[in-house]
Amino acid sequence: MSFDLVLFGGTGDLTWRKLMPALFQAFRHGKLPTSARGGGRILAVAREARSDDGYRAFIRERFAEVEPSKRPNDDEFARFAELLHYRRMDLSRPDDYAGLKAWLDARGADTVVLFLATSPNLFPLVCEQLGAVGLNGPQVRVVLEKPLGHDLASAREINRVVGAVFREAQALRIDHYLGKPAVQNLMALRFGNALFEPLWRRESVANIQITLAEAIGVGTRGDFYDGTGALRDMVQNHALQLLTMIAMEPPASSDADAIRDEKLKVLKALKPFGPEAVARDVVRGQYRAGNVGGQPVPAYLEEVKVPAGSRTETFVALRTEVQNWRWAGVPFYLRTGKRLAARDAQIVVNFRPVPHPIFPGSTHANKLVIKLQPDDGLELHLLAAKGSGNDERLSPVSLDLDFDKAFPSQRVGAYERLLLDAIAGRLNLFVRSDEQEQAWRWVSPVLDAWADDPTPPRPYAAGSWGPAAASALVARDGCAWAEEQ
Ligand code: BG6
Repeated sequence: MSFDLVLFGGTGDLTWRKLMPALFQAFRHGKLPTSARGGGRILAVAREARSDDGYRAFIRERFAEVEPSKRPNDDEFARFAELLHYRRMDLSRPDDYAGLKAWLDARGADTVVLFLATSPNLFPLVCEQLGAVGLNGPQVRVVLEKPLGHDLASAREINRVVGAVFREAQALRIDHYLGKPAVQNLMALRFGNALFEPLWRRESVANIQITLAEAIGVGTRGDFYDGTGALRDMVQNHALQLLTMIAMEPPASSDADAIRDEKLKVLKALKPFGPEAVARDVVRGQYRAGNVGGQPVPAYLEEVKVPAGSRTETFVALRTEVQNWRWAGVPFYLRTGKRLAARDAQIVVNFRPVPHPIFPGSTHANKLVIKLQPDDGLELHLLAAKGSGNDERLSPVSLDLDFDKAFPSQRVGAYERLLLDAIAGRLNLFVRSDEQEQAWRWVSPVLDAWADDPTPPRPYAAGSWGPAAASALVARDGCAWAEEQ
């Protein structure tokens, strides 16, 4: 199979920080056909004039910023660099698209993947121009990187323009969380094993918590982040995608649409928010100065490019429900924030306690922890008897599975997986336009309520687990977040 992968925004951050390292890993793992075998070419396009060699040197230098185990040595880079090409393009000039088409047609690869790693403002322009020169044939796929819209109306507009040029199966919307190995394992856990399915329902599950905690602040992205906030940046996409994976019904097959149809049903079944529910069930916060990992860090309002007095949220916790037979009444808690105590992404399924306790003092109910990062694994928390005497209390124990240890050499990073899938045309891990719009529809009332609300977000100290109100939100149902249990 031959392919051409075109990276629009070929000198931008996303390209050199994420895409090139991922492509290099795929190359190193022997998963990317090499040019020697007549397989792949990677073409970076950007505004500046550069030669192929000039671009290769630029990427070589950028690799210095990648974690050491993922950097190529000289020999590896020399071989990887043979795949890299560069083309100057002004994205507003129709002639430049005609030139790109001629370059691609001269080879006629089996598959052409056009990765839009540019600012989303450019998506409509680029898509229209690609359509105008006929770069939308059946062998072409376009990959769209988030943010895909700022609200429902802008997401729909992007989808309208993309849909006028490409069929749905040609448009691949990235949510990089879906590429994480732990998320593949969530599918395997649920649909490749029979053990949990009978318990995966309201009769056995007390509540489900999804935490996507980051220790980092907004860094140098203050201007972007301030116009976005945690709800748009992490909840509308990553957290909701994880929720659909947890709550969906078993799909009839592993076909992309069979899976995506089930995920969409979950999004449609989410309890809608009205203004009262926003006030009651959603907590927004903003970090103040504090300590993270023993280092003092500034408040959000002191970060570069953050406007004075900003009311943008850097933390969200919310309670929702999936209104269907399987999940009626089970609280789903979602929480994400910057400058929290640790980088920690996990899903906790808290089971109901035994119906008739016979052991003294055994209060811990079972829980299953699906760990996404920094560790990737599963923990099943149980109660066990030590065997030390008749009236002993049961002790909490856990069965731990560490996937990085279980599969040491085969782990594939999120972008590597998604790029290989885009090239191979596997759509399972890409978000369909109707899912994406439904997720926007669900968060819209929260955005609207906040826009009308003069109350600032609740402050929390950097290095904490967020505002106290987030604990109160779950305590109201008699629950606690994982670190409080
Ligand atoms: C991105 C957000 O989508 O995900 C960032 O825009 C966030 O703000 C990042 O830091 C988190 O991704 P990961 O893979 O590091 O958890």
